[in-house]
Amino acid sequence: MRTLFIAGNWKMNKTAAEAVAFLSEIKDELNAIEGIDIAVCPPALAIPAVADLLKGSKIGIGAQNMYFEENGAYTGELAPNMLVPFCNYVILGHSERRQYFGETDEGVNKKIKAALAHGLTPIVCCGESLEQNQAGETHDFVSGQIKGAFANMTGAEATKCVIAYEPIWAIGTGLTATVEQAGGIIGNTVRATIKEIFGDDVAQKIRIQYGGSVSEKNSAELMAHPDIDGALVGGASLKAAFVDLIKNAQ
Ligand code: PGA
Repeated sequence: MRTLFIAGNWKMNKTAAEAVAFLSEIKDELNAIEGIDIAVCPPALAIPAVADLLKGSKIGIGAQNMYFEENGAYTGELAPNMLVPFCNYVILGHSERRQYFGETDEGVNKKIKAALAHGLTPIVCCGESLEQNQAGETHDFVSGQIKGAFANMTGAEATKCVIAYEPIWAIGTGLTATVEQAGGIIGNTVRATIKEIFGDDVAQKIRIQYGGSVSEKNSAELMAHPDIDGALVGGASLKAAFVDLIKNAQ
């Protein structure tokens, strides 16, 4: 049995002060939820304050990106060991990073390996565009992203990762993939590709989230699908309704 894992991706929202004020309101309620792994992924500058506030709680903390080198002349980047004191997770290869910041499958592959080497759990994102979806290219494209991201890795390493399937056309648009669409691609494409690379044992163990306009209204239905092991939540993780979203998933 895979434990559900719901993470909030705050993107470029909330200062450190706003993050602390928001989490102070909801942290007790989040802590009281049983049987689901929960994490928040604030902007980097808010992470230390959030880590301080959540000390001793079971709410995990994730970064939204990371570079794969240990240190050096990489202006604007953060190294794995800078995240380690504060974070359990790191989101890698989000579609917005691929779209605006030139993230590639090769780069994501290097970042996954660096994160694992430092004991961070990568949340590896994949997902197709509307054009690819309409052209019937979803399976081949997403499968290719998984093969690129997980190249030259062992099954033991892959098992430590979380994957988030996020169709780009469903991110921030209010257009959620139907349970059949999301569950179908997660099962028949994402999990099937992991099985093809690493075998059935890894495919059964690895957790695969759905992301894209998940809200308190649809989380119960989505999480009920046997192949959907949680959610990566953007907009709806910025409001107190994030608590209801998780309770409904439970
Ligand atoms: P959304 O974003 O929930 O606002 O659609 C999801 C994500 O991009 O992780």
